[in-house]
Formats: sequence, structure tokens, C-alpha cells
Amino acid sequence: MSSRLDAEYADPAPLRVRIDTHARYSETTHDPGTDVLAALDLSGAEYLADVGCGDARFLARLMALGHRGPLVGIDTSAAMVAAAEAVPGVRGIRADARHIPFDDNTFDVLTARHMLYHVPDPQAALHEFRRTTKPGGTVAVVVNHAETCPHIGELVDAHAASYGIDLGEAPLRTVDSETLPGLMSDLFRAVRVQRRDNALVFDAPAPLIRFAEAIFGPRGIPADHPDRDAVLADLSADVEDWFAHHPGRTWRDPKGYVIATAIVTD
Ligand SMILES: C[S@@+](CC[C@H](N)C(=O)[O-])C[C@H]1O[C@@H](n2cnc3c(N)ncnc32)[C@H](O)[C@@H]1O
Repeated sequence: MSSRLDAEYADPAPLRVRIDTHARYSETTHDPGTDVLAALDLSGAEYLADVGCGDARFLARLMALGHRGPLVGIDTSAAMVAAAEAVPGVRGIRADARHIPFDDNTFDVLTARHMLYHVPDPQAALHEFRRTTKPGGTVAVVVNHAETCPHIGELVDAHAASYGIDLGEAPLRTVDSETLPGLMSDLFRAVRVQRRDNALVFDAPAPLIRFAEAIFGPRGIPADHPDRDAVLADLSADVEDWFAHHPGRTWRDPKGYVIATAIVTD
């Protein structure tokens, strides 16, 4: 994994802010966790691996729903694996999606939500998903639209640039809503795709500023950058100013995702 990705997910806090913001400030109430659960229609007995499990809230949700089968959270970040291990009944494994340390035909269900676009070689990860899932089992992958909250991204980049911060390469996005179905069709026979178009909508500055700060890492501004606080202060003033000059208006930023589900065949 790149050092930038390592740094981005070294601490679960910014990811939690992003997820919570999506849950609270989305135009429509679609939620990827709920959509994946609906697509999987679990009995509760399945051996399930969640690859790129993040802060393990999906696995915690399964436990809360009474899931009885084994649950494994796999992630490259030590902090995320610790979050998975902290959920009673869940096993956390530190591993890369391209090298899943499990035998062939192990899992009944494998989920990879909002992670495949970070993998330099998504086909290699998809091969691993198919290899480790039993014939007849299900693989469910969620990825974002290519255009995800572009206005907030541009705002962060512009303020970083005004401090001469070298944002380096754009964050790696190897697959998106448009390209995922084709990639999966190369490996799986019947791929079912559900598309969700949405937007973040803010009617006040504070949650927008909080979200913008939570994407500093992905945009290339490290947590320990000496100008980080100054960038945040300027950005906050800019956002406050935008709302002051647009009374009654909301800030709307488009986003969305697809859920692609496939049954593994021999
Ligand atoms: C955007 S977060 C999504 C977390 C969670 N799936 C969710 O939807 O809330 C991406 C996660 O994938 C992990 N990740 C990134 N590249 C990975 C890889 N090659 N193999 C396994 N996990 C990876 C990151 O550490 C991070 O926890």
C-alpha cells in the first residue's frame, strides 16, 4: 500500500467523520450498508469476510442483527484491524486484498465496500475474492462514482495550493461505478448492478467544514503538515463567507455509488 494510503487510514477518526456526514447530510437516505444487506439477503449463518473493513461498523451491524456465522474483517491498516478485533465475535486480519490469507473456497460471502478503488490492481483483488469464496457464494463490491463531492475537493485543493502545499499525485482511484461492472463481468458470470445517485447537501457551514477537514488526508495534506491549521482556518472563513453571501441556499455536491453483486461459479 502507498504511504499516502497508509497515512490516510492510520487513524479511523477522519473515516468516521466522512461516513457520519454521508449518513446525515445526503440528499436521499440511501445507505451502502443497507443496500449491501438487501442485496445479500443473509440467513445469518454465512462465513463472511469484509475486505477493507474500515472501522468495522458493517461487521458490528451484522453482529447486532444476530449474525451467527464466522465474521472476518480484513484490512491493510493496523488501526482498522484493531477496530474489527474490538467487535466481540469478529476476527480482524491485517492483509492486502490482493493476497487474502485464506484457502480457496472458504467464504460463503465476501464484501468489499468502498475499498477496491484504492487497490493498484483491482483485477488481482477480484481474483482473490473469487478464489476465496465458495462456488455458489456471493461477492458484493461497492465503489463510488468518479465524480464524488468535486466542489469540496476543489475547495480543499485551492486552499492547500495557496499555501504552496504540494498535493502530489491525485489519490489513486483505479475503478469507479462505470468501470466496475466490466471488471467483474470478466471474472463472474452473472453480475447484478444497482446504481445510487445522490449528493451531499449542507445548509450550514460547520458540517461542511468538518467534512472538508476529513478529506485533508485523501487530498494529500498530512495530519502533521505545519500549515494544516492555517489552511483549515482560511477554508472555514471561505465557507462561512459563502453561506453569508447565499442566504437560504444550500451547498450541494454530487456523489453516488454502485453495488455489484455476483454469484461465484465453478
Ligand atoms: C474508504 S475506507 C472504507 C471502509 C469500509 N469498507 C466502509 O465502507 O466504511 C477504505 C478501507 O480500505 C482499506 N484498504 C485500502 N487498500 C486496501 C487493500 N489493498 N487491501 C485491504 N484493505 C485496503 C483502508 O485501510 C480502509 O480501511
